[in-house]
Amino acid sequence: MGVEVVVEGLTKRFGSQTVWSDVSLTLPAGEISVMLGPSGTGKSVFLKTLIGLLKPDAGHVWIEGVDIAKCSRQDLYEIRKLFGVLFQDGAMFGSMNLYDNVAFPLREHTRKSESEIRQIVLERMELVGLTGAENKLPGEISGGMRKRAGLARALVLDPEILLIDEPDSGLDPVRTTYINQLFIDLNAQIDATFLIVTHDINTARTVPDNIGLLYHRHLAMFGPREMLLTSKEPVVAQFLNAQRVGPIGMSEEKDADQLASEEGIAMPPLPPLPLQIEPSSGIPRRGQRESGAWCRENGVVPPAGSFPERAYAMSLH
Ligand SMILES: Nc1ncnc2c1ncn2[C@@H]1O[C@H](COP(=O)(O)OP(=O)(O)O)[C@@H](O)[C@H]1O
Ligand SMILES: [Mg+2]
Repeated sequence: MGVEVVVEGLTKRFGSQTVWSDVSLTLPAGEISVMLGPSGTGKSVFLKTLIGLLKPDAGHVWIEGVDIAKCSRQDLYEIRKLFGVLFQDGAMFGSMNLYDNVAFPLREHTRKSESEIRQIVLERMELVGLTGAENKLPGEISGGMRKRAGLARALVLDPEILLIDEPDSGLDPVRTTYINQLFIDLNAQIDATFLIVTHDINTARTVPDNIGLLYHRHLAMFGPREMLLTSKEPVVAQFLNAQRVGPIGMSEEKDADQLASEEGIAMPPLPPLPLQIEPSSGIPRRGQRESGAWCRENGVVPPAGSFPERAYAMSLH
């Protein structure tokens, strides 16, 4: 089903350093949200705060009526069972084969028999396209396969909320496209609430239902994909408009300051909005909206050439 996550006025500091302050947003149940931002803006810290690994200095994270920021250890332990997490580095055990890595949470947190475990592990490995690789060690496979194995492991406990930290870092564009399709297909199948952290603009433009942008110690904006892709707010437009800011430059921490110095320079026109990636089954996701729906409802005219296939289909009528 997927569970809603409500974040209110969240602030995180390390000593005198404020990572971000007053972050408020709602991850709608069953929808895919992406959090963008240059390196060092606290995206990973945000994920860790959502699952209670880090305590915020102020604010709330509400999940099913429980405030993760303030709850007891026992409540936190229970709420954590709703989460599947793929950390940035994959966090696989190097000496265990993929089968045992994926089986690990089931052996650790459930009393399932080995034959039940086997069924779940093989099913999840098939879901991420790793059938046949069960006996491989993490060191023997490509980075893309390791991420998919990490994803299979994050799925074994049937999460209601899936947090994924930079699934595309270190992947080439073709593999990034594959993994993006995989997220859409997974969301269609398991219906969980997804939060994907990335600094890949293409992922942000084509995958999510909602986009957030962390920038200069605050949440610059969070909302439906089409709202951010058509936003004229300079920081948001600069980030999501690949004409101005390339993904390589965005991985450098200093670029946040560089971007600030560019504010005020006239914006080039926004590029056309791409279609959102659809499930390969052809069956819509629960949270999926028709491309262009947000623009129509809000009286926003998307840039010429947006939603190319739809425009083509309409021209046939
Ligand atoms: N455990 C920690 N203790 C102190 N500082 C930290 C800790 N974790 C992260 N930071 C700092 O918080 C900031 C945000 O880090 P991070 O969330 O990893 O950024 P991102 O994931 O956006 O690249 C960085 O300046 C980092 O050095
Ligand atoms: Mg990070």
